[in-house]
Amino acid sequence: MKPYIYITRRLPKTAVELIETKYEVSMWEHEDIPVPREILIEEAKKANALLTMLSDTIDEVVLTAGSQLKVVANLAVGFDNIDVETATKQGIAICNTPYVLTDTTADLAFALLMATARRIVEAAEMVKQDQWKSWSPLLLAGHDIHHKTIGIVGMGKIGSTVARRATGFEMDILYHNRTRKPEVEKELGAVYCSFDELVTKSDFIVCLTPLTDETRNLFTRDIFKKMKPSAIFINVGRGPVVDENALYEALLEKDIAGAGLDVFAKEPINGDHPLLKLSNVVALPHIGSSSVETRVIMMKLCLDNIEAVLTGNNPTALVNKDWNALVN
Ligand code: DGY
Repeated sequence: MKPYIYITRRLPKTAVELIETKYEVSMWEHEDIPVPREILIEEAKKANALLTMLSDTIDEVVLTAGSQLKVVANLAVGFDNIDVETATKQGIAICNTPYVLTDTTADLAFALLMATARRIVEAAEMVKQDQWKSWSPLLLAGHDIHHKTIGIVGMGKIGSTVARRATGFEMDILYHNRTRKPEVEKELGAVYCSFDELVTKSDFIVCLTPLTDETRNLFTRDIFKKMKPSAIFINVGRGPVVDENALYEALLEKDIAGAGLDVFAKEPINGDHPLLKLSNVVALPHIGSSSVETRVIMMKLCLDNIEAVLTGNNPTALVNKDWNALVN
């Protein structure tokens, strides 16, 4: 019997046909609707491998549903949707998609920064809605980006790639991270500082930190109050890192000038959410790594990781590094 792989979203035929000769593969039928929980659990009972999305909750119930589950490959670099500890105890490898999405996600972070600062979305809507009545001196005047200070919270691979883009705009770069990054300091002139100093001094605060117990609700009202009134907050990390009520109040009370958000506490965000009513908020539907090229590479990496584990090899992108020690 061929090992069974269940994919929790419909992926293009071309992405899976290569493995179909060696494995039994089944996919959730929709591309844009998540797999219902009960189906996910039923599939997890039978599967040797799951290819999951960041919108799937892979908790103890899923991980212990069946006894033959060997690997969960998440189509994302983030894995806060997975109970990694339980997976490790169960001897299940957890894989993600680092490296391959770094440039694409950094491009999106910088695009969002620029769109928010220069009010691109408002401006484009004005033209499309036939509201452009005349050229005027301060029509949709935004904020400069060049020669300003960018503060990057979370200086991982994506953070340093955003910093590299910032050098093209001759920006000063501050960063805060769990560990210092001497190579980034040397190459890009980035300056390490405390979180408080970063939020106080930066014109653009770019959040790229993963969601952990330490980073949940990191951005509170007190933190937004410390920012410059002209500051722009960008989040391309994870939504729950921000207290969204605090952000809303900070924008309403003009503690800060604007926000560009690719991620939200609850996704998809409800269309009635107060943040979406503010003209100085640019909101995107979590598309950080979403270019055709990168998403295809991410799919391939997930399948390669699955195949490695199912054939007794080490996957290229393993999250639970202690998995190997436990199973071998
Ligand atoms: C990830 O891969 O974790 C990103 O959030 C996707 O855009």
